[in-house]
This record gives sequence, structure tokens and C-alpha cells, in this order.
Amino acid sequence: MGKVAIVTGGTRGIGAAVSKALKAEGYTVAANYAGNDEAAEAFKAETGIAVFKWDVSSYESCEAGIRSVEAELGPVEVLVNNAGITRDVMFHKMTPEQWGAVINTNLTGLFNMTRPVWEGMRARKFGRIVNISSINGQKGQAGQVNYSAAKAGDVGFTKALAQEGARVGITVNAICPGYIATEMVRAIDEKVLNERILPLIPVGRLGEPDEIARCVVFLASDAAGYITGSTLTVNGGQYFH
Ligand code: CAA
Repeated sequence: MGKVAIVTGGTRGIGAAVSKALKAEGYTVAANYAGNDEAAEAFKAETGIAVFKWDVSSYESCEAGIRSVEAELGPVEVLVNNAGITRDVMFHKMTPEQWGAVINTNLTGLFNMTRPVWEGMRARKFGRIVNISSINGQKGQAGQVNYSAAKAGDVGFTKALAQEGARVGITVNAICPGYIATEMVRAIDEKVLNERILPLIPVGRLGEPDEIARCVVFLASDAAGYITGSTLTVNGGQYFH
């Protein structure tokens, strides 16, 4: 059996591509998901990858979920914090619920998932944490004050934790995807996408989930052992950080 990797939000969108790419590299993958049973079952049937349901915004659920993955598959050596949601709305209309949901999933979710695997990685002197942030955490995006704040927080989390992990063989890196062809991006109003977003991407197209998955595979590999605390920008030239 290969190294065990957990991918949060691992049954759809970028996460599904990451789960499949890690499996193809020989990892034993646990794909976490929060709500969409139908998509998770279809993903499991298609790929043979084990799926586990819990909500990354709950610390207790993450602890219990990780315990069940470890009992079934073994100690977690790679963690890809990919799960994320949007509640896009201009700030003057944003509710505390819309703020809280995004912060709790997209930022606190990193604490909730990483804290329970951290001590084991320290003890074994090996670990790979890859956090999926966003271009909008780097540049900010109107209509996404909640999301941009959480995703910028993910980068700070990455840089601080990388300093703690360096001495014990754990790397912590972030990837900032631009606009990738997933349901999340397809949910943007078509007119907004075509008129206000696509023209800003020099490469002239949305990215593909696989183009992010390949970066995760690299950062998880032994070959990337000297890369830690870094932010890999993958956005078709839309923003240079
Ligand atoms: N900068 C400044 N002002 C802007 C703006 C911008 N980029 N975009 C819109 N506005 C202004 C509009 O001009 C408008 O002003 P007026 O009322 O004075 O005319 C006002 O804000 C409202 O704009 P909309 O008509 O678009 O308002 P809406 O309520 O229908 O929609 C919205 C608001 C849902 C936020 C919509 O604008 C939207 O979807 N924007 C795109 C947000 C976005 O990029 N989300 C990314 C999702 S994908 C993702 O998150 C993955 C990832 O990591 C990249």
C-alpha cells in the first residue's frame, strides 16, 4: 500500500482531480466530502477511491473522520486541504452567516484538519500538507470579501506552519489556482464570467482541474522536500504575486 493521502472536498471539482492524480501515483487516497452523497458514490464507483463524509468546519467531526481513515487505511502522510465554499455577495449585503460559513470552512477547516494529523507527522518525521488557496486570496475580489479573507488566511497559515514543520520533515505549501473549470466557477453568472472575468485571463481560457492536480502531486512528492512555505500561483497569467 502506498502512502495515505486525505483530500478534503475530494470527490468533486479540483479535489476529485487531485484524488485521482494521487491514486495514479500510487497513494492510498481517502476522499473526504461534506454533503453530496450522490456525487461521492458516483466518484467512488468510477475511481475505486474510498470516500469519507464529514464537515471540515467541525473540529470534532475532523478528529473522528481522520481517526476512521487511519483505522481503515493507516497513518496519514499527505493532507490536501482543498474543501472550499463560496457565498458571493457584495459586502453591503453580506450577512454574518455568509461570512461565518466561508471562514469556518475555508480557513478554520485548515486548523480542524491539520491539527489532528500534525502530531503523528511530527512523530514519524514526515508529512506533506498542501493547502488550496486562491488567486482571490492574493488579489482580492469584489463580491468575495469573506472568501478572499479566508484564502489570504490560508497563505498565512501555510507560511507559519511551514516554519514549525521544517525541522521535523513536514512541508507545508499553498497553491493559488485562478479560475478553474469546475462547478464553483460555472455557478458564476454567465455574463459576469464572460464579460468581467475571462477577458482578464491572458491565457484566454479557464484552467483545468488536472492542471492543479499535477502541482499537488509534485508538492507531495519526495522530490519537493526542499520546498516549504511557498505559494504556487497557477492562474493563466491573470495575476502575478
Ligand atoms: N469591482 C467593483 N465593483 C463591482 C465589481 C468589481 N469587480 N463587480 C461588480 N461591481 C459592482 C457593479 O458594478 C454593481 O454596481 P452598481 O450597483 O453601482 O451598478 C454592483 O457591484 C453590483 O454588481 P452585480 O450587478 O454583479 O450584483 P449582483 O448582486 O447581481 O452580483 C456578485 C454580485 C454575486 C458578487 C457578482 O458580481 C459575481 O458573481 N461576481 C463574481 C465574483 C467572483 O469572481 N467569484 C468567484 C467565484 S469562483 C471562485 O471563488 C474560485 C476561485 O478561487 C477563483
